[in-house]
Amino acid sequence: MASPKHNMLREIFEQPEAVQQTAEAASADVSSQSFYGVSWKEAGLASLDRILIAASGTSRHAGIAGKFMIESLAGIPVEVDYASEFQLSPAVVSPKTLTIVITQSGETADTLAALRKAKKSGSKVVTISNVEQSSMMKEADFRIHTKAGPELAVPSTKAFTAQLTALFCFALFLGEIRKKVAREQAAAFRSELASLPAKLQTVLGLDAKCEALARRFRDRSGFIFAARGVHNAVAMDGALKLKEVSYLHSEAFPSGEILHGPLATIDEDIAVIAIATVDGADSDSKARFEKTLSNLKELKGRSGKIIALASEGDTRVGKLAEETLYLPKAPDLLLPILEIVPLQLFAYHIAILLGRNVDSPRSLAKAVVND
Ligand code: G6P
Repeated sequence: MASPKHNMLREIFEQPEAVQQTAEAASADVSSQSFYGVSWKEAGLASLDRILIAASGTSRHAGIAGKFMIESLAGIPVEVDYASEFQLSPAVVSPKTLTIVITQSGETADTLAALRKAKKSGSKVVTISNVEQSSMMKEADFRIHTKAGPELAVPSTKAFTAQLTALFCFALFLGEIRKKVAREQAAAFRSELASLPAKLQTVLGLDAKCEALARRFRDRSGFIFAARGVHNAVAMDGALKLKEVSYLHSEAFPSGEILHGPLATIDEDIAVIAIATVDGADSDSKARFEKTLSNLKELKGRSGKIIALASEGDTRVGKLAEETLYLPKAPDLLLPILEIVPLQLFAYHIAILLGRNVDSPRSLAKAVVND
């Protein structure tokens, strides 16, 4: 495409490279039992009993997906906290807890305070950051550098998909050293990961469709994003992206939770954006998908319109949603990297149609460095 007018759009389109470069760097030295050049045996990873993730904004959403990745692949319990809450909370952190801070900039004041609190309690800290020379990279015990390249627009896009990639690689590595993932299974996951950049190019081809949807939906008074499992992280970030750049009201809920209150707010003025993808090779994903379909049946008729993300070849979601965007197939834990892209494009186009400054939305900063 011709050079886009806005950093946000350019950065959305840079995601295939961001994911590829992050995955290549992360996979480099698994065979030598080290990750990012650090011997994780020495770091005591094999005997960890808990992981705590602290982050802010979009980076915290990556952490929520990371929890599913680590728990599924490595069987270690993971908690995710707002960095702003963790730093002043009574949360118990011990030397057997590994703390992961996730931060695009490496400078967010709340996340830096969380890192310092964790270190003081004897926990080892891993920083996942897009800025190699940042404060949080310097203060961490271990570093994972996402290779998204400089991100300039305030709404985070390519850094998010790079964070998801790094977290997936780390979860896979943990799964291998803890013998929860067999070598063949790990190789299959790595080859799926390697196919994501091409799939991201396909998803970016939905840009014109996302723009048409934005034209149709720009006058809605609010948006509800719904998903299940690891996809909740995507719903949360889709809602955040939309509110950051369009200033419209948008919220995310786990699909099943919509029945417990939010349903009362849904009328023809509210649009529902539902993530209804499925990994046909994964029985848990299939079970969640069936539940999602019954949630969509409940919502149909109440909401003005449902926009759904579904998997290529699916024939059921399209009957329940007014608009369906089809995404390439991928393992359940990798689907978020594809799913967020149309939501970023939708947010971008609505904001442009409403005359907003997408690169520098009102009242927001790229990094909140003062608390
Ligand atoms: C600000 C930015 C968000 C970002 C958050 C955390 O609020 O506007 O886009 O997600 O900070 O930033 P970090 O650099 O720590 O990921």
